[in-house]
Amino acid sequence: MKTSDRRQWLKDMAVTSAALGLLPITGFSEVNKEVHSFLNESDEDVKRLLYNENHLGPSKNVKKMIEKVIHRSNRYATFFKYDLKALKQLIAEQEGLSPENVLIGHGSFELLIWAATHFGSKGEEIIVPSPTFDVVGLFARKIGANVIPIEVDSEFKMNLSEMESRISSQTSLLTICNPNNPTGTVIETEKLKSFCRLASDKTTVLVDEAYIHFLKSWKEHSMASLIKEGKNVLVTRTFSKIYGLAGLRIGFMLGPAELVHEMEMKFTLGFPGNMPNSLSVASAITSLKDYSFLEMSRYNNQETRSRFYKELDELNLRYIPSEANFVYFDVTNFKEYKAMMWKNKILLAGGWPTKSNWARVTMGSENDIDYLLHKMKGKKWL
Ligand SMILES: Cc1ncc(COP(=O)(O)O)c(C=O)c1O
Repeated sequence: MKTSDRRQWLKDMAVTSAALGLLPITGFSEVNKEVHSFLNESDEDVKRLLYNENHLGPSKNVKKMIEKVIHRSNRYATFFKYDLKALKQLIAEQEGLSPENVLIGHGSFELLIWAATHFGSKGEEIIVPSPTFDVVGLFARKIGANVIPIEVDSEFKMNLSEMESRISSQTSLLTICNPNNPTGTVIETEKLKSFCRLASDKTTVLVDEAYIHFLKSWKEHSMASLIKEGKNVLVTRTFSKIYGLAGLRIGFMLGPAELVHEMEMKFTLGFPGNMPNSLSVASAITSLKDYSFLEMSRYNNQETRSRFYKELDELNLRYIPSEANFVYFDVTNFKEYKAMMWKNKILLAGGWPTKSNWARVTMGSENDIDYLLHKMKGKKWL
């Protein structure tokens, strides 16, 4: 790589990592170096409060399923009771859609990259909220799309009217994240539905629902029903969050059958061998039926969040009430706060450009949160 290319690459990586909230100031290589310095530490010693993982997962049922199917790891995940076809069928049944509306990926990250690649080419406009987990915007920008970030409003909610007013004949995609990462805010369901109905007449609307399961009666809040109405809407979900399967890398996208087919052919050539692995597919099938684990995780998260708010109130720190498994709060000096926490092996994220002194903390185990609070109480606040 030429020095100038390398410089640009490092710059891009720094922007990427900042936007994803991994490490706001330095590039990916620095993030990796920092995280890798904890390589030989146990999960008990390092408090992983930066990736919004579920500390409770995987569920007992998933572990049993993995034991049951692991002997079949020599086979591709096809023509089997727990194969991709079965997973698509189950998702379709649960969503009142057909398997043709379902696209499976190695985590929803992959599906977001596919969306960026599919809708973003030179000159095309993609409207994204800011701040958000902006995989689409970052990748689309790399391939020449004109990405238009729209700031959240004063209540940290997505500015839907501004987003709608920016749709033009060049707009190929508009993205929403609900609940949003890192703010944890949600858009009122009927308001979002009306917005999606209107906006999807003019462009494709993608709603990232990675954290939707943390809402009670989450199905009512999902935008998936709009696909049944025939709207030009895509919905992404993941098994990495409430289901506790981040390491297995599996997620899905719902959308109009024609568009799903087009993307599947474009990015997989329809070759079933190159699909998420058999353990993740079987685990995803089990997870979708594991209602009590879902309830338990949601309840646990809610309790931890409430306790955390109380402590933030005591410390007089400003936060945004969250509908997800993380809380975004003002630490007055993120650089200093982060340095202190990482020194104590508490890994967390934050420092996004618009709110550079805010931190995002995943609601981890009771012990992890206790430890974090203990360290916060010992800190002098500005
Ligand atoms: C909003 C949002 N969408 C998508 C993802 C990607 O998740 P995964 O690739 O593990 O499915 C994340 C991960 O943190 C996220 O926060």
